[in-house]
Amino acid sequence: MSWHPHLWHPTTQVATAPVPMRVRAARGSELELDDGRRLIDAISSWWVTLHGHAEPAIAAAIARQAQQLEQVIFANFSHEPAERLATRLSALSALERLFFSDNGSTAVEVALKIAWQWWRNQGSERRQLVAFEGAYHGDTFGAMALGERSLFTDPYAPLLFDVARVSWPHSHWGDEGVEQREARSLQELERALQIPTAAVILEPLIQGASGMRVVRPAFLRAVTDRVRAAGALLIADEVMTGFGRTGDLFACRRAAIRPDLMALSKGLTGGFLPMGVTLASERLYQGFISDQPEATFFHGHSFTANPLGCAAALASLDLLQANPERFQQFEVRHTPLLQELAEHPLVRRPRCVGTMAAFDVEAGEASYLNPVGRQIQRHCLEQGVYLRPLGDVVYLLPPLGISVPQLERCYRVLGSALDALA
Ligand SMILES: Cc1ncc(COP(=O)(O)O)c(C=O)c1O
Repeated sequence: MSWHPHLWHPTTQVATAPVPMRVRAARGSELELDDGRRLIDAISSWWVTLHGHAEPAIAAAIARQAQQLEQVIFANFSHEPAERLATRLSALSALERLFFSDNGSTAVEVALKIAWQWWRNQGSERRQLVAFEGAYHGDTFGAMALGERSLFTDPYAPLLFDVARVSWPHSHWGDEGVEQREARSLQELERALQIPTAAVILEPLIQGASGMRVVRPAFLRAVTDRVRAAGALLIADEVMTGFGRTGDLFACRRAAIRPDLMALSKGLTGGFLPMGVTLASERLYQGFISDQPEATFFHGHSFTANPLGCAAALASLDLLQANPERFQQFEVRHTPLLQELAEHPLVRRPRCVGTMAAFDVEAGEASYLNPVGRQIQRHCLEQGVYLRPLGDVVYLLPPLGISVPQLERCYRVLGSALDALA
C-alpha cells in the first residue's frame, strides 16, 4: 500500500504517518477494509456516526429525498425537509431559529457572526469575546481564533483575533481538587466579564479535541449565571456533544443551561452527510429585522439546507427519539468496563459522560504529540479495534448501536494494549 498520488489527507503528516487503510464498506459499528479485515469503529469516525454505519432508515430517507428534491438555492426558496427539521430542533433545543451551514466549523462561525452583529445592530460597543483554555471550535479562522492556540493554529497566529481566556476546571473520577479549580475559573470569568463582552463560548460538559476534558454540570450553571449577570450572550458549541452523546439529547439539557446560540453538526445527519446548524433565540433573530440593509445577516453557503442532509437529519432524529434509552443508558454500559480498566497501573484520570469514556495514559508528557497514542492505536488495530487517541488521552466514543460483545472487546483490546506498554 502506498500514498495516493493525488490525495491530501486531513491532519496527517505524510513523512511519519502510516499509509491510510482503504475501506470498502461499513455497517453498524464495523468498517470493512479492502484486504478483508474488519475493524470496530470505536470513535464513530471522528464522532459523526451516531447510530451505526449504513443505518438503513437513514439511507432509505436519503434515497427517497434524492428522487424528490436534491438541492435548491435556499435564498428565494424554502422546502418541507428544512421546515420540519427547524421545527423539531427548535422544540428540542428551546431556541426558536435555525440557520443552516455545512459543518461544525461553519456552525460555530455563524454563531460568532450572529452574536457579533447582533450587538452591532443595536449600536453596542461590546467587543470582547471569552473562550476557555483548551477549547476547540474548528479549523476555519474565526473558529481557530476562539480555540486554544496550539500546534494546529501556530502557523496562523498573526491572523487570529484575541479572545479573553478562562481556565477550564476539568475533572475525573475521584478528583478531590475540582471545587477549588472551579472557583478559580469562575473568578477568572468574573474578572474577564468586567470588560463589556459580546459572547462567551464553551463546549458544554466535554471539551473534545483537547483531550475529552469533562466539567461538572454545576460549573456550567455557575458560568451561565455570570454570563447572564454580565448581559453577554452564551454560545454552546454542541458540535460533538449534541444528539445524545452526553446521555441527553443535548449537553445543555443535561447541564440544565439555556444558551442564546447553539452550534450542531457531526451527529446531526446520523453521520451520513456534512451539515451544520446554528440555533438562535428569537430575541437574536428579531435583532436583524430592519429596514436598514446593513442590519441583514449577510451569510450563506451554496448548499444551505441541502434537502438530502435535512432528510437524513429527520430520519436520524426519528431513531434517536424512538430509542432514547440507547443514549440515556450508554453511561451505564461504559461504567463497569471503565472501572475495571481503571485498575490498570497506567490508567490515570478515568472519566465518562454518556457515550464518551476516556482516561490519560501514564506515559510522559501530556501532549497531542505524545507517541504513546500511536503505539496504542497500532496495537488495537492489530486486534481489530480502531481508536484515535489524542496523544496520551485515550477515549472511546462508539456508535449508539455498538453491541455488548463489541464494546467489551474494545475494552479488552485496550487492556491488552496497556499491558503491552507496561
Ligand atoms: C466542539 C467542536 N466544535 C467544532 C468542530 C469542528 O467541526 P468540523 O470538523 O465539522 O468543522 C469540532 C470538530 O471536532 C468540535 O469537536
